[in-house]
Amino acid sequence: MGDYLFVLTNVFDQKVNVNPFSHLHDCVERAITISRLLRRLQISAVITMDSNTIRDPDNVVCRLPPCQKKTEEGSESTRHPQCKPNVVCLRDFEEYAKTNMPRDVFDYYAGGSDTEQSVRDNQEAFKRIRLQSCILRDVSSRDISTTILGQKVPFPIGIAPTAMQMMAHPEGEMAMAKAATAMGTGMVLSAWTTSTIEEVAEASGNGLRWFHVHIFRDRSITRKIIERAERAGYRAIFISGDTPVLGRRLRALRNEFALPSKFRLQSFPLQLQIEDGTNNDNFPEYVNTQIDDTVSWDDIGWIRSISSLPIVIKGILTAADAREAVSRGVAGVVVSNHGGRQLDGVPASIDVLDEVASAIRGSGIEVFFDGGVRSGTDILKALALGARAVFIGRPALWALNYDGSAGVCKMLEILMIEFSVAMALTGSLSVADIKKDLLRRQIIYAKL
Ligand SMILES: Cc1cc2nc3c(=O)[nH]c(=O)nc-3n(C[C@H](O)[C@H](O)[C@H](O)COP(=O)(O)O)c2cc1C
Repeated sequence: MGDYLFVLTNVFDQKVNVNPFSHLHDCVERAITISRLLRRLQISAVITMDSNTIRDPDNVVCRLPPCQKKTEEGSESTRHPQCKPNVVCLRDFEEYAKTNMPRDVFDYYAGGSDTEQSVRDNQEAFKRIRLQSCILRDVSSRDISTTILGQKVPFPIGIAPTAMQMMAHPEGEMAMAKAATAMGTGMVLSAWTTSTIEEVAEASGNGLRWFHVHIFRDRSITRKIIERAERAGYRAIFISGDTPVLGRRLRALRNEFALPSKFRLQSFPLQLQIEDGTNNDNFPEYVNTQIDDTVSWDDIGWIRSISSLPIVIKGILTAADAREAVSRGVAGVVVSNHGGRQLDGVPASIDVLDEVASAIRGSGIEVFFDGGVRSGTDILKALALGARAVFIGRPALWALNYDGSAGVCKMLEILMIEFSVAMALTGSLSVADIKKDLLRRQIIYAKL
C-alpha cells in the first residue's frame, strides 16, 4: 500500500452523459497523471458520478473539480454550466479569488502590515535564488515523501494556520481539513477558526491535524482550547511567537473590516463570548483585549506543563531565537514572518532560512518554513536551505474559494506535481538529496 492514492473504482461503469471531457474525465486523467509521475502512489479514492462527488475511503466527500475542458467543438458556450476558469498554477487560484471574493475579504487575506514590503519580498526573494539543473541522470524512481513530527506524509507540504476560513467558502476550515486528509497531509487549524475544533477534527477523519494556539491574556482560555484540541485528536501545538501585538494591517483598517456577523470565532467557548458581551461587531476590540504583550519564552514552559503534545514555535527569523526555542524543549520551529502581516520590513522568510536552520542543525528539532511558497521550485529551494517541509498560507485560501475541498486538493496536487518535476530536473531522487549545492544566489549589487 502506497502513501496516498486515488481509487478509481466503478469509474468506467458510470454513465457519462455530459460529454467525454466532463468532470469525471478530468478527474481520472489527473489521478493517472499523478500516479505516473509519482510511481509510489496507488489509487485509492472512489469516484462516483452521482452528484459530482469523490469519496475517499474514510468517506470524505469532495466536489469533483470543475469542468475545465472545452467540448470537441471547442466553443466557450458549450462548456459545462458549472465551469470555472482553468487553474494550472497557484497564481491562477489567486486571480480567481480576486474577482470572486468580496473586496474586503480578499484584502483581509491578501494584505500584510504597513507598506506590505515583507509580503512582496517573501515572493521576490525566491526569485533571487536560482536552481542548478542536473542532466542525464536516471530520475525515474523518485521519492517525494517525508515525515512531519514523526508522521509520514506523501510530500513535504502542509497547510498553514489562517484565520476565519468560512469567509472564503461556506465549509471553511472543515473543507480545508478534508482536503489535507484526502491528500495525505495535515493542516494547522488557526486559533481564529470559524468552525469548531471538534467539527474540523471530524472533517479531517483519521488524517493529520495540528492546532495553532495563541497564549491569551486570560490563560484559562488557552488552557481550555488546548484541552479541547487534545481531546479532538490534534497531534501538535503550534504557537505563534510573533504576535505579542497585531501588526497594523492597513487594508483592513481602510476597509473597516470586521468578521461578518453570521460567523463566530469558534475556538472561544460560546459561554465566554456571551459573558464578555462579545459579539462580532466588537470583534476587533475583543481580539485586542485577549492578545497579550507580556507573553514570553517562560510561557512555553507553562504550555509544556499543561500538555504532552509536541510544541512547534512559529515566527522564528533569527538564529538566536531558534537556539532559544531548542533550549525550551520544543519539537520544531517554523521559519516565518507571518506572511508579512506582523513586523513589516523584516527579511523575507526564505532569506533567513539557511541561517536559522544551520544554527540548530543536529539539535533534533524539525525546521519548517512558510512565506511566499507559490510553486514546486519554491519548495525545492526551501528544502535545499534546510526546511523539512513547507506550509502554504494564502494560496490555500484562494483554492478554498475556488472550489472548497476539491479546490484545495487541486492546489496541493499542482504543488506536488511541480515539486516532483523540479526534483527530476535537478537530479534529486529523494528529499534527502535536496541540498544547498542545487542553488545559486543572484548577486544584486556588483562592484562598478
Ligand atoms: C489571512 C491570514 C490569516 C492568518 N492567520 C494566522 C493565524 O491565525 N495564526 C498564525 O500563526 N498565522 C496566521 N497567518 C500566517 C500564516 O500561518 C503563514 O505564516 C503565512 O500566511 C505564510 O505566508 P503565505 O501566505 O505567503 O503562504 C495568517 C495568514 C493569513 C494570510
